[in-house]
Amino acid sequence: MPAHSRNGAGTIPFARPFIGKEEEDAVLRVLRSGWLTTDGEALAFEQEFAERLGRAAGTPLAAAAVSSGTGGLHLALEACGLRAGDVALVPAYTFAATAGAAVCLGAEVAFVDCAADSFLLDTDSLERTARRLAEGKTAYETGGPAGRPRVVVPVHFGGLCCDMGAVNETARRYGMSVVEDAAHAFPAYTETGEPAGTLGDAGVFSFYATKTITSGEGGMVVSRNRDLINRVSLLRCHGIDRPVWNRYTGEKASWYYEVVQAGYKYNLPDILASIGRVQLRRADELLDKRKRIAARYDAAFSGIPALSTPPASAGDARHLYPLRLNPPLAAVRDHCVRKLQDMGIGVSVHFIPLHKMPYYRKRYGLKDGDFPRAEDTYSRVISLPIWPGMTEEETGRVIDSVFELTGGKNPCL
Ligand SMILES: Cc1ncc(COP(=O)(O)O)c(C=O)c1O
Repeated sequence: MPAHSRNGAGTIPFARPFIGKEEEDAVLRVLRSGWLTTDGEALAFEQEFAERLGRAAGTPLAAAAVSSGTGGLHLALEACGLRAGDVALVPAYTFAATAGAAVCLGAEVAFVDCAADSFLLDTDSLERTARRLAEGKTAYETGGPAGRPRVVVPVHFGGLCCDMGAVNETARRYGMSVVEDAAHAFPAYTETGEPAGTLGDAGVFSFYATKTITSGEGGMVVSRNRDLINRVSLLRCHGIDRPVWNRYTGEKASWYYEVVQAGYKYNLPDILASIGRVQLRRADELLDKRKRIAARYDAAFSGIPALSTPPASAGDARHLYPLRLNPPLAAVRDHCVRKLQDMGIGVSVHFIPLHKMPYYRKRYGLKDGDFPRAEDTYSRVISLPIWPGMTEEETGRVIDSVFELTGGKNPCL
Protein backbone atom coordinates (compact mmCIF):
# COMPACT_ATOMS: atom_id res chain seq x y z
CA MET A 1 0.00 0.00 0.00
CA PRO A 2 1.56 3.36 -0.96
CA ALA A 3 2.02 5.89 1.87
CA HIS A 4 -0.75 8.07 0.45
CA SER A 5 -3.46 5.84 -0.95
CA ARG A 6 -5.88 7.12 -3.57
CA ASN A 7 -8.53 9.32 -1.87
CA GLY A 8 -7.27 8.09 1.49
CA ALA A 9 -5.76 9.88 4.47
CA GLY A 10 -2.90 12.12 3.47
CA THR A 11 -4.19 12.62 -0.04
CA ILE A 12 -4.07 16.17 -1.35
CA PRO A 13 -7.40 16.59 -3.13
CA PHE A 14 -7.52 18.00 -6.64
CA ALA A 15 -9.82 20.78 -5.47
CA ARG A 16 -11.26 21.98 -2.19
CA PRO A 17 -13.50 25.02 -1.72
CA PHE A 18 -12.28 27.73 0.66
CA ILE A 19 -15.22 27.98 3.04
CA GLY A 20 -15.07 29.72 6.40
CA LYS A 21 -17.23 31.08 9.18
CA GLU A 22 -18.61 33.92 7.09
CA GLU A 23 -20.06 31.48 4.57
CA GLU A 24 -21.44 29.32 7.40
CA ASP A 25 -23.05 32.34 9.05
CA ALA A 26 -24.54 33.48 5.76
CA VAL A 27 -26.17 30.07 5.18
CA LEU A 28 -27.51 29.96 8.74
CA ARG A 29 -29.00 33.42 8.31
CA VAL A 30 -30.93 32.22 5.25
CA LEU A 31 -31.96 28.93 6.88
CA ARG A 32 -33.38 30.84 9.84
CA SER A 33 -35.12 33.42 7.67
CA GLY A 34 -37.93 31.07 6.70
CA TRP A 35 -37.26 31.62 2.99
CA LEU A 36 -35.04 29.06 1.24
CA THR A 37 -35.55 29.69 -2.44
CA THR A 38 -34.80 32.73 -4.60
CA ASP A 39 -35.33 36.15 -3.03
CA GLY A 40 -33.23 39.02 -1.70
CA GLU A 41 -29.90 37.13 -1.43
CA ALA A 42 -29.95 36.16 -5.10
CA LEU A 43 -30.99 39.66 -6.08
CA ALA A 44 -28.20 41.18 -3.96
CA PHE A 45 -25.68 38.69 -5.37
CA GLU A 46 -26.46 39.60 -8.96
CA GLN A 47 -26.38 43.32 -8.18
CA GLU A 48 -23.06 43.09 -6.32
CA PHE A 49 -21.56 40.93 -9.07
CA ALA A 50 -22.66 43.38 -11.77
CA GLU A 51 -21.35 46.34 -9.78
CA ARG A 52 -17.95 44.79 -9.19
CA LEU A 53 -17.47 43.69 -12.79
CA GLY A 54 -18.93 46.95 -14.11
CA ARG A 55 -16.44 48.95 -12.03
CA ALA A 56 -13.56 46.91 -13.46
CA ALA A 57 -14.96 47.26 -17.00
CA GLY A 58 -15.69 50.98 -16.61
CA THR A 59 -19.24 50.50 -17.87
CA PRO A 60 -22.61 49.68 -16.29
CA LEU A 61 -23.49 45.99 -16.48
CA ALA A 62 -26.60 43.94 -15.76
CA ALA A 63 -26.48 40.41 -14.32
CA ALA A 64 -28.83 37.48 -13.74
CA ALA A 65 -28.01 34.79 -11.18
CA VAL A 66 -28.77 31.26 -12.39
CA SER A 67 -28.54 27.73 -11.02
CA SER A 68 -25.41 26.78 -12.99
CA GLY A 69 -22.98 27.96 -15.63
CA THR A 70 -24.56 25.43 -17.98
CA GLY A 71 -28.01 26.94 -17.44
CA GLY A 72 -26.49 30.38 -17.95
CA LEU A 73 -24.95 29.34 -21.28
CA HIS A 74 -28.26 27.85 -22.38
CA LEU A 75 -30.17 31.06 -21.63
CA ALA A 76 -27.49 33.44 -22.94
CA LEU A 77 -27.36 31.57 -26.26
CA GLU A 78 -31.14 31.64 -26.48
CA ALA A 79 -31.20 35.35 -25.68
CA CYS A 80 -28.62 35.93 -28.45
CA GLY A 81 -31.03 34.33 -30.90
CA LEU A 82 -29.41 30.90 -31.45
CA ARG A 83 -32.03 28.67 -33.03
CA ALA A 84 -32.44 25.43 -35.01
CA GLY A 85 -30.54 25.64 -38.31
CA ASP A 86 -27.93 28.00 -36.83
CA VAL A 87 -24.35 27.06 -36.00
CA ALA A 88 -22.47 27.92 -32.80
CA LEU A 89 -18.68 28.02 -33.15
CA VAL A 90 -17.13 26.44 -30.07
CA PRO A 91 -13.57 25.39 -29.16
CA ALA A 92 -12.94 21.65 -29.38
CA TYR A 93 -10.96 22.07 -26.16
CA THR A 94 -13.69 22.67 -23.63
CA PHE A 95 -16.15 21.05 -21.26
CA ALA A 96 -19.36 19.41 -22.49
CA ALA A 97 -21.51 22.36 -21.31
CA THR A 98 -20.17 24.84 -23.88
CA ALA A 99 -21.40 22.80 -26.84
CA GLY A 100 -24.30 20.99 -25.16
CA ALA A 101 -26.11 24.26 -24.39
CA ALA A 102 -26.16 25.09 -28.12
CA VAL A 103 -27.29 21.62 -29.19
CA CYS A 104 -30.12 21.75 -26.62
CA LEU A 105 -31.46 24.79 -28.49
CA GLY A 106 -31.61 22.74 -31.69
CA ALA A 107 -28.51 24.38 -33.16
CA GLU A 108 -25.43 22.74 -34.68
CA VAL A 109 -21.92 23.06 -33.27
CA ALA A 110 -18.74 23.64 -35.30
CA PHE A 111 -15.58 22.96 -33.34
CA VAL A 112 -12.49 25.15 -33.61
CA ASP A 113 -8.95 23.95 -32.81
CA CYS A 114 -6.57 25.52 -30.25
CA ALA A 115 -3.82 27.94 -31.23
CA ALA A 116 -0.23 26.63 -31.17
CA ASP A 117 1.16 26.25 -27.64
CA SER A 118 -2.17 27.41 -26.24
CA PHE A 119 -5.29 26.04 -24.59
CA LEU A 120 -7.33 28.80 -26.23
CA LEU A 121 -9.17 28.81 -29.50
CA ASP A 122 -7.18 29.66 -32.62
CA THR A 123 -8.62 32.85 -34.11
CA ASP A 124 -7.41 32.00 -37.65
CA SER A 125 -9.28 28.68 -37.52
CA LEU A 126 -12.29 30.55 -36.14
CA GLU A 127 -12.22 32.96 -39.07
CA ARG A 128 -11.80 30.11 -41.60
CA THR A 129 -14.68 28.10 -40.14
CA ALA A 130 -17.00 31.13 -39.98
CA ARG A 131 -16.16 32.01 -43.60
CA ARG A 132 -16.87 28.48 -44.85
CA LEU A 133 -20.24 28.43 -43.09
CA ALA A 134 -21.13 31.93 -44.34
CA GLU A 135 -20.34 30.74 -47.91
CA GLY A 136 -22.85 27.89 -47.45
CA LYS A 137 -20.16 25.19 -47.12
CA THR A 138 -19.71 22.63 -44.37
CA ALA A 139 -17.63 23.79 -41.41
CA TYR A 140 -14.56 21.78 -42.48
CA GLU A 141 -13.20 20.60 -45.81
CA THR A 142 -13.90 17.07 -44.62
CA GLY A 143 -17.57 17.80 -43.76
CA GLY A 144 -19.18 18.63 -40.44
CA PRO A 145 -22.22 20.83 -39.84
CA ALA A 146 -23.55 23.49 -42.19
CA GLY A 147 -25.86 26.43 -41.48
CA ARG A 148 -25.74 30.10 -40.61
CA PRO A 149 -22.86 30.99 -38.27
CA ARG A 150 -24.82 32.65 -35.49
CA VAL A 151 -22.80 32.67 -32.25
CA VAL A 152 -19.20 32.15 -31.20
CA VAL A 153 -18.45 30.94 -27.67
CA PRO A 154 -14.82 31.68 -26.72
CA VAL A 155 -13.74 29.81 -23.57
CA HIS A 156 -11.31 31.53 -21.19
CA PHE A 157 -9.71 28.21 -20.34
CA GLY A 158 -8.26 27.89 -16.86
CA GLY A 159 -8.70 31.63 -16.33
CA LEU A 160 -6.59 32.73 -19.29
CA CYS A 161 -8.34 35.22 -21.58
CA CYS A 162 -8.93 34.57 -25.27
CA ASP A 163 -7.90 37.22 -27.80
CA MET A 164 -11.26 38.96 -27.62
CA GLY A 165 -10.23 41.66 -30.11
CA ALA A 166 -9.80 39.02 -32.83
CA VAL A 167 -12.88 37.04 -31.74
CA ASN A 168 -15.08 40.14 -31.80
CA GLU A 169 -13.71 41.19 -35.20
CA THR A 170 -14.56 37.81 -36.76
CA ALA A 171 -17.96 37.87 -35.05
CA ARG A 172 -18.72 41.32 -36.49
CA ARG A 173 -17.59 40.30 -39.99
CA TYR A 174 -20.01 37.35 -40.10
CA GLY A 175 -22.86 38.82 -38.04
CA MET A 176 -22.34 36.50 -35.07
CA SER A 177 -23.07 37.22 -31.41
CA VAL A 178 -20.37 36.50 -28.84
CA VAL A 179 -21.15 34.60 -25.62
CA GLU A 180 -18.02 34.33 -23.48
CA ASP A 181 -17.75 31.10 -21.53
CA ALA A 182 -16.13 32.66 -18.47
CA ALA A 183 -16.78 29.63 -16.22
CA HIS A 184 -13.06 29.62 -15.25
CA ALA A 185 -12.50 33.33 -15.38
CA PHE A 186 -13.61 35.19 -12.31
CA PRO A 187 -11.73 37.40 -11.94
CA ALA A 188 -9.61 37.34 -15.12
CA TYR A 189 -8.38 40.20 -17.25
CA THR A 190 -7.11 40.65 -20.79
CA GLU A 191 -3.62 41.96 -21.53
CA THR A 192 -5.15 45.45 -21.59
CA GLY A 193 -6.87 44.98 -18.23
CA GLU A 194 -10.47 44.42 -19.34
CA PRO A 195 -12.39 41.86 -17.29
CA ALA A 196 -13.30 38.55 -18.93
CA GLY A 197 -17.02 38.14 -19.45
CA THR A 198 -17.61 41.81 -20.31
CA LEU A 199 -16.24 41.88 -23.84
CA GLY A 200 -18.88 40.01 -25.82
CA ASP A 201 -22.66 40.27 -25.97
CA ALA A 202 -22.89 38.19 -22.79
CA GLY A 203 -20.51 36.54 -20.34
CA VAL A 204 -21.34 33.41 -18.36
CA PHE A 205 -19.65 32.50 -15.06
CA SER A 206 -19.80 29.28 -13.03
CA PHE A 207 -19.82 28.92 -9.25
CA TYR A 208 -19.55 25.12 -9.29
CA ALA A 209 -17.75 23.70 -6.22
CA THR A 210 -14.30 23.60 -7.84
CA LYS A 211 -14.41 27.06 -9.41
CA THR A 212 -12.50 30.22 -8.42
CA ILE A 213 -15.43 31.38 -6.28
CA THR A 214 -18.22 28.99 -5.45
CA SER A 215 -21.80 28.79 -4.24
CA GLY A 216 -21.76 24.97 -4.43
CA GLU A 217 -23.66 25.12 -7.71
CA GLY A 218 -24.56 28.33 -9.47
CA GLY A 219 -23.84 30.71 -12.30
CA MET A 220 -24.17 34.30 -13.48
CA VAL A 221 -24.99 35.80 -16.85
CA VAL A 222 -23.62 39.30 -17.37
CA SER A 223 -24.17 41.78 -20.17
CA ARG A 224 -24.03 45.45 -21.08
CA ASN A 225 -27.40 44.88 -22.71
CA ARG A 226 -30.23 45.16 -20.15
CA ASP A 227 -32.75 43.67 -22.61
CA LEU A 228 -30.63 40.53 -22.94
CA ILE A 229 -30.51 40.11 -19.16
CA ASN A 230 -34.27 40.71 -18.96
CA ARG A 231 -34.76 37.85 -21.42
CA VAL A 232 -32.45 35.59 -19.37
CA SER A 233 -34.41 36.52 -16.22
CA LEU A 234 -37.69 35.70 -17.91
CA LEU A 235 -36.47 32.33 -19.21
CA ARG A 236 -34.84 31.27 -15.93
CA CYS A 237 -38.21 31.06 -14.20
CA HIS A 238 -40.87 29.50 -16.44
CA GLY A 239 -41.28 32.57 -18.66
CA ILE A 240 -43.29 34.19 -15.88
CA ASP A 241 -43.66 37.92 -16.41
CA ARG A 242 -42.61 39.03 -12.93
CA PRO A 243 -39.62 38.22 -10.73
CA VAL A 244 -40.27 35.20 -8.55
CA TRP A 245 -39.54 37.08 -5.33
CA ASN A 246 -42.21 39.69 -6.14
CA ARG A 247 -44.70 36.90 -6.66
CA TYR A 248 -44.36 35.93 -3.02
CA THR A 249 -43.16 39.03 -1.23
CA GLY A 250 -44.24 42.00 -3.37
CA GLU A 251 -46.99 44.38 -2.43
CA LYS A 252 -49.14 43.73 -5.50
CA ALA A 253 -51.53 40.78 -5.81
CA SER A 254 -49.32 37.84 -4.90
CA TRP A 255 -51.16 35.11 -6.72
CA TYR A 256 -51.43 36.57 -10.22
CA TYR A 257 -48.81 36.05 -12.91
CA GLU A 258 -48.71 35.45 -16.63
CA VAL A 259 -46.59 33.01 -18.62
CA VAL A 260 -45.44 34.95 -21.67
CA GLN A 261 -42.86 32.42 -22.89
CA ALA A 262 -42.12 28.72 -22.35
CA GLY A 263 -39.23 28.81 -19.89
CA TYR A 264 -36.96 26.83 -17.62
CA LYS A 265 -36.29 26.49 -13.88
CA TYR A 266 -32.79 27.91 -13.56
CA ASN A 267 -33.12 30.26 -10.58
CA LEU A 268 -30.39 30.41 -7.90
CA PRO A 269 -31.74 29.68 -4.39
CA ASP A 270 -30.89 32.13 -1.60
CA ILE A 271 -28.96 29.51 0.42
CA LEU A 272 -26.47 29.24 -2.44
CA ALA A 273 -26.52 32.94 -3.30
CA SER A 274 -25.59 33.78 0.30
CA ILE A 275 -22.40 31.68 -0.04
CA GLY A 276 -21.67 33.30 -3.40
CA ARG A 277 -21.94 36.81 -1.91
CA VAL A 278 -19.27 36.05 0.70
CA GLN A 279 -17.03 34.41 -1.89
CA LEU A 280 -17.43 37.41 -4.18
CA ARG A 281 -16.06 39.63 -1.41
CA ARG A 282 -13.11 37.23 -1.05
CA ALA A 283 -12.38 36.83 -4.76
CA ASP A 284 -9.14 38.83 -4.74
CA GLU A 285 -7.83 37.12 -1.60
CA LEU A 286 -8.51 33.70 -3.19
CA LEU A 287 -6.88 34.79 -6.46
CA ASP A 288 -3.81 35.89 -4.55
CA LYS A 289 -3.50 32.50 -2.88
CA ARG A 290 -3.82 30.65 -6.22
CA LYS A 291 -1.25 32.96 -7.79
CA ARG A 292 1.23 32.14 -5.06
CA ILE A 293 0.85 28.40 -5.66
CA ALA A 294 1.18 28.90 -9.43
CA ALA A 295 4.35 30.95 -8.90
CA ARG A 296 5.90 28.10 -6.91
CA TYR A 297 4.95 25.56 -9.58
CA ASP A 298 6.32 27.85 -12.32
CA ALA A 299 9.61 28.32 -10.47
CA ALA A 300 9.97 24.57 -9.91
CA PHE A 301 8.98 23.33 -13.37
CA SER A 302 10.22 25.94 -15.84
CA GLY A 303 13.41 24.98 -17.58
CA ILE A 304 12.79 21.25 -17.01
CA PRO A 305 12.93 19.63 -20.48
CA ALA A 306 10.30 17.01 -19.60
CA LEU A 307 7.73 19.67 -18.64
CA SER A 308 5.98 22.69 -20.15
CA THR A 309 4.44 25.13 -17.68
CA PRO A 310 1.08 26.61 -18.71
CA PRO A 311 1.10 29.85 -20.71
CA ALA A 312 0.21 32.66 -18.33
CA SER A 313 -0.47 36.38 -18.26
CA ALA A 314 -0.76 38.98 -15.51
CA GLY A 315 -4.57 38.85 -15.65
CA ASP A 316 -4.84 35.06 -15.47
CA ALA A 317 -7.42 33.87 -12.88
CA ARG A 318 -5.25 30.78 -12.29
CA HIS A 319 -8.26 28.51 -12.00
CA LEU A 320 -6.25 25.52 -13.25
CA TYR A 321 -2.59 24.58 -13.43
CA PRO A 322 -2.44 22.44 -16.58
CA LEU A 323 1.12 21.09 -16.70
CA ARG A 324 2.12 19.52 -20.03
CA LEU A 325 4.50 16.59 -20.28
CA ASN A 326 6.97 16.65 -23.16
CA PRO A 327 8.16 13.59 -25.10
CA PRO A 328 9.13 10.94 -24.17
CA LEU A 329 7.24 11.35 -20.84
CA ALA A 330 4.14 12.56 -22.74
CA ALA A 331 3.63 9.04 -24.17
CA VAL A 332 2.94 7.71 -20.66
CA ARG A 333 0.64 10.50 -19.42
CA ASP A 334 -2.04 8.10 -18.15
CA HIS A 335 0.59 6.16 -16.21
CA CYS A 336 1.85 9.48 -14.74
CA VAL A 337 -1.70 10.36 -13.63
CA ARG A 338 -2.00 7.01 -11.88
CA LYS A 339 1.43 7.39 -10.26
CA LEU A 340 0.57 10.84 -8.91
CA GLN A 341 -2.70 9.50 -7.54
CA ASP A 342 -0.83 6.62 -5.92
CA MET A 343 1.49 9.17 -4.31
CA GLY A 344 -1.59 10.85 -2.83
CA ILE A 345 -1.88 13.76 -5.24
CA GLY A 346 -5.37 14.48 -6.60
CA VAL A 347 -5.01 15.42 -10.25
CA SER A 348 -7.32 15.76 -13.24
CA VAL A 349 -7.20 16.15 -17.03
CA HIS A 350 -8.72 19.25 -18.63
CA PHE A 351 -10.19 18.55 -21.12
CA ILE A 352 -11.00 15.54 -23.28
CA PRO A 353 -11.66 17.45 -26.55
CA LEU A 354 -15.30 17.29 -27.57
CA HIS A 355 -14.63 15.88 -31.05
CA LYS A 356 -13.46 12.71 -29.29
CA MET A 357 -16.83 12.28 -27.56
CA PRO A 358 -19.04 9.55 -29.03
CA TYR A 359 -22.02 11.89 -29.42
CA TYR A 360 -20.18 14.46 -31.57
CA ARG A 361 -18.17 11.86 -33.47
CA LYS A 362 -21.41 10.28 -34.58
CA ARG A 363 -23.31 13.50 -35.16
CA TYR A 364 -20.63 15.11 -37.35
CA GLY A 365 -18.57 12.14 -38.59
CA LEU A 366 -15.51 13.36 -36.65
CA LYS A 367 -12.41 11.30 -36.01
CA ASP A 368 -9.10 11.40 -34.15
CA GLY A 369 -6.73 13.86 -35.72
CA ASP A 370 -9.43 16.31 -36.83
CA PHE A 371 -8.31 18.92 -34.27
CA PRO A 372 -4.63 18.05 -33.90
CA ARG A 373 -3.57 20.79 -31.50
CA ALA A 374 -6.41 20.10 -29.08
CA GLU A 375 -5.59 16.41 -29.28
CA ASP A 376 -1.88 16.91 -28.71
CA THR A 377 -2.51 19.11 -25.67
CA TYR A 378 -5.05 16.67 -24.25
CA SER A 379 -2.67 13.73 -24.69
CA ARG A 380 0.02 15.26 -22.49
CA VAL A 381 -1.74 17.46 -19.95
CA ILE A 382 -2.16 16.89 -16.21
CA SER A 383 -4.00 19.46 -14.06
CA LEU A 384 -2.32 19.85 -10.67
CA PRO A 385 -4.13 20.96 -7.49
CA ILE A 386 -4.26 24.76 -7.12
CA TRP A 387 -6.84 25.49 -4.43
CA PRO A 388 -6.47 28.52 -2.16
CA GLY A 389 -6.19 26.61 1.14
CA MET A 390 -3.18 24.52 0.06
CA THR A 391 -0.33 24.81 2.53
CA GLU A 392 3.30 25.39 1.53
CA GLU A 393 3.99 21.82 2.61
CA GLU A 394 1.23 20.48 0.36
CA THR A 395 2.43 22.52 -2.61
CA GLY A 396 5.92 21.18 -1.96
CA ARG A 397 4.62 17.61 -1.90
CA VAL A 398 2.96 18.11 -5.30
CA ILE A 399 6.23 19.45 -6.70
CA ASP A 400 8.23 16.55 -5.22
CA SER A 401 5.78 14.04 -6.68
CA VAL A 402 6.04 15.56 -10.15
CA PHE A 403 9.81 15.38 -9.85
CA GLU A 404 9.54 11.69 -9.04
CA LEU A 405 7.99 11.32 -12.50
CA THR A 406 10.74 13.24 -14.24
CA GLY A 407 13.51 11.58 -12.28
CA GLY A 408 14.68 15.02 -11.10
CA LYS A 409 14.89 16.80 -7.78
CA ASN A 410 12.74 19.68 -6.59
CA PRO A 411 15.08 22.62 -7.38
CA CYS A 412 13.24 24.80 -4.85
CA LEU A 413 14.29 22.66 -1.89
C1 LIG B 1 -15.54 25.61 -19.62
C2 LIG B 1 -16.77 25.34 -18.82
N1 LIG B 1 -17.93 25.87 -19.23
C3 LIG B 1 -19.08 25.68 -18.56
C4 LIG B 1 -19.11 24.91 -17.42
C5 LIG B 1 -20.42 24.66 -16.74
O1 LIG B 1 -20.50 25.21 -15.47
P1 LIG B 1 -21.49 24.57 -14.37
O2 LIG B 1 -20.82 23.37 -13.79
O3 LIG B 1 -21.67 25.67 -13.38
O4 LIG B 1 -22.76 24.22 -15.06
C6 LIG B 1 -17.94 24.33 -16.96
C7 LIG B 1 -17.97 23.50 -15.73
O5 LIG B 1 -17.09 22.85 -15.31
C8 LIG B 1 -16.73 24.55 -17.67
O6 LIG B 1 -15.59 23.98 -17.27
